[in-house]
Amino acid sequence: NANRLDELVSLERGEVDRRIFSDAEIFEQEMTLIFGRAWQFLCHESQIPKAGDFFETPMGRDNVLTVRQRDGSIRAMLNTCTHRGNAVCRAEEGNTKAFMCTYHGWSFDLAGKLIGVPDVEKFYKGDLDKSKYGLVHVAQLESYHGFVFATMDPAAPALADYLGPAGRIAIDLIAAREVEIIPGVQKFTIDCNWKFAVDNVFDWYHAQVTHMSAVASGLFPPAEGEVEVGGARNTLGESLDIPSGLMGNGVDDLVLVSEFGHAAAGPSVDGLGGMPIDTSWRKRPQAVEWLGEVGSKVCGYPNIFPNAWLATAGGQLALRVPVSPNRTEIWWFSFVEKNATPDQRKMTVMLAGHIFGPAGILEQDDGENWAQSTQQTYGHRSRQVPQLLKMGLGRGKVVKENGLARIEGSTSEHAQLWTYHAWAQWMKGLDWDELREATIPPDTL
Ligand code: FES
Ligand code: FE
Repeated sequence: NANRLDELVSLERGEVDRRIFSDAEIFEQEMTLIFGRAWQFLCHESQIPKAGDFFETPMGRDNVLTVRQRDGSIRAMLNTCTHRGNAVCRAEEGNTKAFMCTYHGWSFDLAGKLIGVPDVEKFYKGDLDKSKYGLVHVAQLESYHGFVFATMDPAAPALADYLGPAGRIAIDLIAAREVEIIPGVQKFTIDCNWKFAVDNVFDWYHAQVTHMSAVASGLFPPAEGEVEVGGARNTLGESLDIPSGLMGNGVDDLVLVSEFGHAAAGPSVDGLGGMPIDTSWRKRPQAVEWLGEVGSKVCGYPNIFPNAWLATAGGQLALRVPVSPNRTEIWWFSFVEKNATPDQRKMTVMLAGHIFGPAGILEQDDGENWAQSTQQTYGHRSRQVPQLLKMGLGRGKVVKENGLARIEGSTSEHAQLWTYHAWAQWMKGLDWDELREATIPPDTL
């Protein structure tokens, strides 16, 4: 099994076997070995402020209810009745006093305790010990700066340790702004494998072609005084108006990779060009303290392994939820600063709706590519052609400091390749110490 996985993802050749994007058996193993173990994002605390507030999130194919308790604590449990398995809650979010299953009417309190069984004496005649049939809780639940995560594995390391410096920076880039959620999570489906929707965040090569129409719309004008990048042309030979930041400009690019497969890649914050984004918050004391020197340079889209990526410039978090090998739900959570002015709030909502999301100008472009790329992995002959992730291979000198590994230099595919390497280690079923060791970046990538 380990040998086979090393063949599926080759760090040496920079190749990934296409079968990992459509093989049904591999998908099933991912549900157990990755989504059955990894810490995964459930919600932001601002979504469930009051006792009885709940929010449902998938962890792989398990549906989890995160519930604010009467004492202010948070608990998370499976949305599946301990009688015959029906969902005990049909709403995606809301407020309740208890959860009642609509099949036979068993009721569970906010902590998941079984509190009501219709006509229990008449039907069970004293044979049902209610204390044994509460809802099943996640193995561990923790909040990091208001972002609530859970794991199904009691042996998983603590959340902050799991996130490591790269994962913590990803969250800090949003949390340091003192944010709250914008009500309404945008959810939609793309016919692609979930991993295409994950690795694309590190791809600073596609924007100049995939997002040509967005660029042509004037959404990303070059900043005042910024030199446009030459050489990018469409198929008609017309040069494209793309600010260097959007392309990855070959100078300021930064790749972060760390234990367990978390990664980030993109231009440093100064290279963002004319995007209409406020970066002044980065100078606030809390941001400076949390982010440190390296974190303060990061923008773009870090991914917390396996499937939570953070659009740090606008303040959004996306889940790439695996439904089947060729179907992925995309969930967008958008944040706004608690003390934003009405105008700033309006701008944040506008960007959240118009850039990513079901009506966004970018993700629909991306989604078409991911769907086609997934489709081509089903072909008998096509699937034998490896995927290439060799841009910059062997040229990335990894600098390791305070548990953070980084590569500075030109646009590369290191972060994608690294993520797939980490994926292969997870799929070997290693224990946590072995997994940590196997996912420490090499000195050269
Ligand atoms: Fe829930 Fe029977 S399945 S009460
Ligand atoms: Fe894109």
